[in-house]
Amino acid sequence: MIDFVKLSGSGINKVYYLDSVDSTNKFAKLETSDDDILIVADYQSKGRGRFERAWQSDKGKNITITLVKKLDISKIHLVNFYTSYVILRALKEITESSASGSEGLFRLKWPNDVLLNSKKIAGVLTELVSINDVPKKFIIGIGVNVNQNLFPDDLKEKATSLSKFFGKDFEINGIINAIIRIFYENLMLLSQESILMELWRLNTDIFGRQVRFRLADNGEELCGEVVEVSDDGGIKIKISDNSNSENISTFYTGEISFIY
Ligand code: BTN
Repeated sequence: MIDFVKLSGSGINKVYYLDSVDSTNKFAKLETSDDDILIVADYQSKGRGRFERAWQSDKGKNITITLVKKLDISKIHLVNFYTSYVILRALKEITESSASGSEGLFRLKWPNDVLLNSKKIAGVLTELVSINDVPKKFIIGIGVNVNQNLFPDDLKEKATSLSKFFGKDFEINGIINAIIRIFYENLMLLSQESILMELWRLNTDIFGRQVRFRLADNGEELCGEVVEVSDDGGIKIKISDNSNSENISTFYTGEISFIY
């Protein structure tokens, strides 16, 4: 059971601790009306990731949480960049003493993945209850692989967990506490867009990398080199198209995978 005493000073009003739920994001949308609510699930039967993919997580092994937070900002991408940066900070803090030189192991991947040793360890799925609300109510879903050592075949090469990498189990509630504390301590970054994005850029390795880019709307794929991630969250990619002309396109939604 999550230690609410530790969380109460952070800004959280209420914690729902669920043994099993379809999706913590769905629960947050349907069952909560207040602000600063945290939903923690041991197991999700229909966890969702980006692009309507399934987010699978073994019972009791990982973090599957949703934070309900009203924010006076209109840009959903900032919440995504902010939350992935917060997760990276929390994971660095928790693992500081676990490995000599854990610095640089955790990196961010556009738009909102956290990588450990180049494999995905955490993802963020942010949704809005209603576009017209002021302030807007953000449903911020966070999945972090903590103590799961075995992954389905299709994820084996792409996903990792803290236990898999560090060779020992971690205390899940301690990591949730760290994520929530760091989230509430740094909220001012959400109104300091250029500083937030600079912090994000300082924690990524994607620049200069060859990537395959998958467009969100039609699933079309193209290849190229990552040139920049702008303050508005757009990724600039120099498209490889055999012509000599420089073709740099900016995308706001989609997915990249590295070409090795
Ligand atoms: C991604 O595709 O990378 C985003 C994954 C987000 C998963 C989390 S787990 C808790 C919350 N509830 C969900 O159904 N999804 C998010």
